[in-house]
Amino acid sequence: MENFPQLYSKERLQQFITKYKDLIQLDPLKEIHCGIIHLDELHIAAQLLHQGELVAFPTETVYGLGANAKNAQAILNIFKAKRRPLSDPLIVHVHDKNNIYTDKPDFLDSFAELFWPGPFTIVLKSTQLETTEILSAGTGSIGIRIPNHKVALELLEKANLPIAAPSANLFTHISPTSAAHVFNDFYDQRVHIIDADRSDNGIESTVIKPLGNELHILRLGSLAKETIIQKIGQSVQLKHFAIKYENKYMQIEENEEELEKELENLQNLDRKNSMEAPGQFLKHYSARINSFIVTFQQINIGQEIDLDLKESVIIDFGQELRNRIVNIDETKYKSLSINYDAKEAMFNLYDSLRWAELQQGAKQILLYDFDTVINQKVQYDENILSIQDKIFRSASGQKIYYKDNKFYLCQ
Ligand code: TXA
Ligand code: MG
Repeated sequence: MENFPQLYSKERLQQFITKYKDLIQLDPLKEIHCGIIHLDELHIAAQLLHQGELVAFPTETVYGLGANAKNAQAILNIFKAKRRPLSDPLIVHVHDKNNIYTDKPDFLDSFAELFWPGPFTIVLKSTQLETTEILSAGTGSIGIRIPNHKVALELLEKANLPIAAPSANLFTHISPTSAAHVFNDFYDQRVHIIDADRSDNGIESTVIKPLGNELHILRLGSLAKETIIQKIGQSVQLKHFAIKYENKYMQIEENEEELEKELENLQNLDRKNSMEAPGQFLKHYSARINSFIVTFQQINIGQEIDLDLKESVIIDFGQELRNRIVNIDETKYKSLSINYDAKEAMFNLYDSLRWAELQQGAKQILLYDFDTVINQKVQYDENILSIQDKIFRSASGQKIYYKDNKFYLCQ
């Protein structure tokens, strides 16, 4: 830190805050401890990684909170900074498929050819990294990907290290697609943020795990399930794989005290909470305010709830919600894509959720239900499954039914 005082200079921080003034929210009770790295300083970012520091960097999916994947203490600092349970494994980013730090199965080259660089994470047994235990959350398997992003690849090359990186958000918060989002979550911590453009895809990578002749999708992401099926079907080496996807939603045990203990007592890892598909937590990608998915289908309707539309931010697709809900507050309204373009909606999703929670007086977010085919204009698109998954988790599964100016909780 002391080596690069320019990263922490008042002028630089002020310039960053001014540049992103609409996206940044500062808490007067917190001090700024983060550093800002400019794009012509990636050699500094690489040095910081070698020194065991945390560096947030852009990828094509979302921003990652990176650390040297060979340095156990640096990895632990990721968990601490995010307040993330140790039972949730990290993805290791590399820039070369010959450097994947795992026992390389013979089918890996074929996957690499089809999907790398790109939003494709493959979970493989690892024996080659001494830090496997903590990276893999005790499972012995590590998720690996080569990101398709100029800055990320340049950083990986300059550092010449594997970089462990989860999404650069506090645990359960919305994943970051901009340097300003990362800043909001971590400015009071010792984190160095590379100031680059918005992430191109807008949601995370798709995580898969080969098991025998099956490819299990552990997390939906910006590489659509259909694309994987189609490309694998055309590959002589891979077409024997059957794709498996099971929609799993797990409740997080929210116990601050236990998490605190776990993070303090890192030598003594208790693995009772290790999971096969850890990213399946139901509460994920969540805004700081309550979120609901709005449905117009009358199924399992419960009691009426009192929602003031003046206090509700609406996140629409096309103009579906605007056309149906009366008296919405136009200043708290955004459509993920006016033209019903699912790719655009994916790009805008986390950005819009972050925008929503910053709106003055907002008490809840009302989200379009991508599950409901209520309008012929909403054409099927392969990306919709992933978008719906993120929205469902972001609302912790809560749905409300709207009719005649009234909202009802769905059960
Ligand atoms: O797009 C992305 O994947 C971003 C960028 C930064 O690369 N990273 C990211 O990491 O989303 P994270 O930690 O927020 O989510 C990774 C998820 C985990 O929660 C878990 O579900 C799954 O990937 N995962 C990673 N390693 C795994 C492993 N060894 N076994 C099973 N699941 C794993
Ligand atoms: Mg994440």
